[in-house]
Amino acid sequence: MISLENISLELDVDEQKIPILHDLNLQFEAGKMYALTGPNGSGKSSVARVVMGIYKQTTGRVIYNGQDVGELGITERARKGIGYAFQHPPRFKGMPVKDMLEIAMKHSDQVNCQVLRDLGLCPEDYLERTLDNSLSGGEIKRIEIATLLAQNPKVRIFDEPEAGIDLWSFERLIDVIGNSHREDTTTVVISHQEKILNMVDEIVLIQDGTVSMRGNREEIWPQIKASAECACRSNCRLGEEAYAECPR
Ligand SMILES: Nc1ncnc2c1ncn2[C@@H]1O[C@H](COP(=O)(O)OP(=O)(O)OP(=O)(O)O)[C@@H](O)[C@H]1O
Ligand SMILES: [Mg+2]
Repeated sequence: MISLENISLELDVDEQKIPILHDLNLQFEAGKMYALTGPNGSGKSSVARVVMGIYKQTTGRVIYNGQDVGELGITERARKGIGYAFQHPPRFKGMPVKDMLEIAMKHSDQVNCQVLRDLGLCPEDYLERTLDNSLSGGEIKRIEIATLLAQNPKVRIFDEPEAGIDLWSFERLIDVIGNSHREDTTTVVISHQEKILNMVDEIVLIQDGTVSMRGNREEIWPQIKASAECACRSNCRLGEEAYAECPR
């Protein structure tokens, strides 16, 4: 179980403190799958970064299996079994895919090629490729997800795994994430995709840097649709009347 207790996050930007998260409380249980959804900029990736230790919370605690891990760095948290696949995976010039997978698998001699195959990447074509700009957006994204699968942590956070993934690979991706989930694993998928929201036990809606709703799909989905409608209506530059006539 991992819990975020009374988390707030402020970041220093141009010598100013920018509030990103506030009053955020969340628990993720072992054996369950969760989706974090919400508008762009609402704070979903920031939540993931706080869990992983990439951002240090300004106040509050991160508790993992009863232990306060809020002061630990990224590597220590990874050793304890927390893993994160980035929304925008970093590129590492000169590092072969094979080495990345080996590190993820704690330097096992036997690189798990199956994780690449599962994501539609032929190991023969990709193991020796380097993680630089020569890889397409969808390729690097799939390698990032494969790396998290190879690492096989107890807490897995996939940040918009569908981003940049083609239609043909999307169904496979959902299957791979679902099938690799175990009873002792916590899977959190940050996503805007209805198909992903459909496969989880619980949906958490993040808005304005905090949890605004959580529950199962039946409870949450109608409210999410209604709130998306409201946001669209209030953002319509042509005004309320034009919005009402919009043929959508
Ligand atoms: N390092 C940073 N410096 C400045 N602002 C930041 C930083 N990281 C996050 N933010 C801001 O915090 C807010 C939340 O960002 P975050 O990436 O968590 O949003 P998100 O919900 O993941 O959005 P998206 O759906 O677009 O991925 C945004 O307004 C973003 O600009
Ligand atoms: Mg994000």
